[in-house]
Amino acid sequence: MEKTILITGGAGFIGSHVVRLMVNKYPGYKIVNLDVLTYAGNLENLKDLESKPNYVFVKADITDEAAVKEVFEQHRPDGVIHLAAESHVDRSISDPLAFIRSNVMGTVNLLNAARALWGDNTEGKRFYHISTDEVYGSLGSTGFFTEETAYDPRSPYSASKASSDHMVRAWHHTYNLPVVISNCSNNYGPNQFPEKLIPLAINNIKHKKAIPIYGKGENVRDWLFVEDHAVAIDLIFHKGVNGDTYNIGGNNEWTNIDLIRKLCEVMDNALDREKGESEKLITYVKDRAGHDKRYAIDSGKLMNELGWKPSLQFGEGIEKTVDWYLENDEWLNNVLSGDYAKYYSQQYGNR
Ligand code: NAD
Ligand code: DAU
Repeated sequence: MEKTILITGGAGFIGSHVVRLMVNKYPGYKIVNLDVLTYAGNLENLKDLESKPNYVFVKADITDEAAVKEVFEQHRPDGVIHLAAESHVDRSISDPLAFIRSNVMGTVNLLNAARALWGDNTEGKRFYHISTDEVYGSLGSTGFFTEETAYDPRSPYSASKASSDHMVRAWHHTYNLPVVISNCSNNYGPNQFPEKLIPLAINNIKHKKAIPIYGKGENVRDWLFVEDHAVAIDLIFHKGVNGDTYNIGGNNEWTNIDLIRKLCEVMDNALDREKGESEKLITYVKDRAGHDKRYAIDSGKLMNELGWKPSLQFGEGIEKTVDWYLENDEWLNNVLSGDYAKYYSQQYGNR
């Protein structure tokens, strides 16, 4: 094998798309997927890769220092693409410590293990940390986050991600670890756990259940199709400048309420329902505590320096996403069993 790449969190939403892209595009790389399989990790996302000779799955917890060290010693990765994290803002509000453990402590364990393995011999080595636009805080109605925007995280989730970004930069400056970081906007697409807005709404519309909109639905997010994020990650991993940060976004801003109206229209079509039927399910609920108003990313650096651009228009991406969820009943039913019902009633009551 030419190289070994360790991908953490590869059984999750974005991670599974990154693993698939890397395994298929680089048959000469050994791809090691390290994931502890929390409620959000699902090996069904990677069924098509199980028999690939260049793919290995390792069940391990990044918060377990000894287990991480063992994986590094056994597989001796040349590169790390680190996606494993607790990722849902609402859960970070009810259980912040889980986020500090996985996102901060887990990242430090990986940084230490990479440093111990590579030592001063870092030629051809790279630690790539996947982060979020939420570290920059919240925008008013104008302006964009650039790579120079000062950090201003405001939820336990975004504070834990900001903290992990700082750790990665500290390991670069203090120990010369070769690192790169990217901060991406909201992803959507197949395999996203239905606690996040788009898959949650698709599932509720399908079952004619209330679609919960926090506050007045005026918060704005910048949506990117997950496969376009995976392509950006591949590009940054191979071509990004050591020590640099790259913002990734869809240049595709929607208020939550307009997004949900658009989704209702697509779902009415897909399910042969009367126009306007799904919109009747929209239900305004209590706002998220500390709800950030607007995120919007300036991806100019990534586009100009590395030539990336999103491949899909939002209309196309959302239709593809709806079709995937409607065609993958078994996947959806499996993830909805287990603890999902308990989470849903804690978060939304009996709606
Ligand atoms: P996800 O919740 O779908 O998946 C996270 C994965 O990490 C799961 O497979 C889970 O089992 C694994 N994991 C969690 N804690 C772990 C631990 N302690 N040890 C080992 N594995 C663990 O998340 P996602 O939406 O795919 O996000 C992936 C990464 O991308 C995260 O770092 C997130 O902060 C970042 N990100 C997400 C988005 C988005 O819109 N979803 C946008 C920008 C950045
Ligand atoms: O911006 C990148 C971030 O996007 C990632 O770092 C996070 O991992 C990812 O979860 C996502 O965070 P958000 O909080 O923006 O995503 P979520 O899907 O939870 O919510 C999107 C918007 O919709 C947000 O303004 C809150 C609102 N919302 C969400 C849910 C779950 C609702 O109105 N109702 C809901 O039921």
